[in-house]
Amino acid sequence: MRTFEEILRLVDEQLRALVLPENPKGLYNPIEYILSLGGKRIRPSLLLMSANMYADDLSPYVAPATAFEIFHNFTLLHDDLMDKADQRRGQSTVHKKWNDNTAILSGDVMLVVAYQQLAHIDPTHLSKILPLFSKMAAEVCEGQQYDMDFETRADVSQAEYLEMIRLKTAVLLGACLKAGALLADAPQEDADYLYDFGVSLGIAFQLMDDLLDVYGDPTTFGKKIGGDIVCNKKTFLLINARNSLSEEIRKELDSWMNCQTCKPEEKIAAVTTLYSQIGVKNLCEEYMQIYFERALASLAKVKVDDIRKKALRGVAENLMSRNK
Ligand code: IPE
Ligand code: IPE
Ligand code: MG
Ligand code: MG
Ligand code: MG
Repeated sequence: MRTFEEILRLVDEQLRALVLPENPKGLYNPIEYILSLGGKRIRPSLLLMSANMYADDLSPYVAPATAFEIFHNFTLLHDDLMDKADQRRGQSTVHKKWNDNTAILSGDVMLVVAYQQLAHIDPTHLSKILPLFSKMAAEVCEGQQYDMDFETRADVSQAEYLEMIRLKTAVLLGACLKAGALLADAPQEDADYLYDFGVSLGIAFQLMDDLLDVYGDPTTFGKKIGGDIVCNKKTFLLINARNSLSEEIRKELDSWMNCQTCKPEEKIAAVTTLYSQIGVKNLCEEYMQIYFERALASLAKVKVDDIRKKALRGVAENLMSRNK
């Protein structure tokens, strides 16, 4: 079994070896830029760790693992444009460093490059991975659409929120784990349990992302703090704050939401104070724990020795206490 560090090295080597056309530079340089900024590489690592439970030689799985990471980075280019975010991985976002059209078009071609990486899979396995990947990719777009629709709605329920984050974030983690299992010829049942493991872990992961967006340390988080508050994102924190505040204080929260002329820094400070007053951070952490435990319950159903699950479980645990 490979350690997480060894898996990360494999992923980084493959990403560095990726050959993109030289021209037009305006299309390909931003891709090299975003991929060079690092990131946790969690998705390709999950794919390889899942495959590693069933296979020792990981070389056939490195290209598909890269496909998932490139797909993820493509979604970030478009997401940062949609979320008007200036910073990613501690640096300028692509649409800030270049322009909006660059983020759109470089993002588009990254999706193509992701499919080119998938095309390295042998035909037998490709017939299973391609529909899995395409379904996931469409679901991510569906989740992103809900995320945007919710910005202008005040009455988003917790159930709607959980379904939105399942789509925009969690199915990608699930698909990585399932792809790793299918590529390494795991039993279908195991592949399905690993998918469930990834989806529950992904929901916990997005809850944590929402939390870090408010309470994270900007020097490690790499994104601007308070971005979700500025955009009126219907995060777990905002939905639960609205539901538990008194009528009077809820009106105060809503007036910040509706304020078009407020200074972003003032809005972030005021809304964060309201969150802290009602202890919504703790509630979010409780939900993270619930989904993390759900994830572990799915992992427990996978029929391989516990020793072969250890690395995967370790990564899941580390994700729950991350600061970036
Ligand atoms: C960011 O994903 C987008 C979300 C789903 C929250 P990551 O937090 O995995 O970002 P990187 O790849 O490590 O930068
Ligand atoms: C991430 O949602 C979903 C996708 C990128 C598909 P966020 O908008 O919360 O991600 P960050 O916080 O910008 O990384
Ligand atoms: Mg965003
Ligand atoms: Mg977003
Ligand atoms: Mg976020």
